[in-house]
Amino acid sequence: MRLMLDSANLMDIERALDIYPIRGVTTNPQQIQSEGCIDFFAHLKSIRRLLGAERSLHVQVLGRDKATIIGEAEKICSILGEGTYVSIPVTEEGLKAIHVLAQRDFNITATTVFSTIQGILAMLSGVKYIAVFYDRMLNNDIDAPRVIRELSSLLWTNTSNTQVLAASFKNVSEITTSYASGAGCCTVRPEILSTGLNMPSIQKAVIDFRKNWDEIYAGKTILDL
Ligand code: E4P
Repeated sequence: MRLMLDSANLMDIERALDIYPIRGVTTNPQQIQSEGCIDFFAHLKSIRRLLGAERSLHVQVLGRDKATIIGEAEKICSILGEGTYVSIPVTEEGLKAIHVLAQRDFNITATTVFSTIQGILAMLSGVKYIAVFYDRMLNNDIDAPRVIRELSSLLWTNTSNTQVLAASFKNVSEITTSYASGAGCCTVRPEILSTGLNMPSIQKAVIDFRKNWDEIYAGKTILDL
């Protein structure tokens, strides 16, 4: 099981890396837009530096046709180097490009996946991750947990190297349901991860335990004993 951070914000990424077991960062054009008028590649290089060599960085192409998508993938990977995954929407043109790039050993994340059939086509075309858009699916009355279950069991049965990367979350419950449905990986916005740790009951339990301690060893920590 893996966790990725869904953000293009440098401060959020740096803070989250310190706290959570993050295996990579996913970005999309909406997140890039939220950063304002940035130098695209300079910004992604800064994210790459924060991530170090072991974590993955997922960058989405915008091309409308196979040739442009392939060109963008080549440019993204040549500038950002190892550990870069090209996120390609699973459309007809996207799949054409995925075939070619997968044969050339590019790391590909199939994105904007709303259905099992899109995921199957991406898997058969050689992608490493299938980004299933959980909350956007629910908004369209699509059974996201079912799609994750179906894709995960197909990947398991076929001993594939591909993983379901559940994405597009609006709350903690969607994340836990995705993992429980078989997603190998979830990519989550930092503020949703914080929500999972900042509920009042957690804070109250921690404060109560400190009070218990202080009643016996007032003013001392374990290090002082
Ligand atoms: C990540 O790969 C996706 O682009 C992202 O999770 C989509 O999230 P959104 O539906 O909140 O835009």
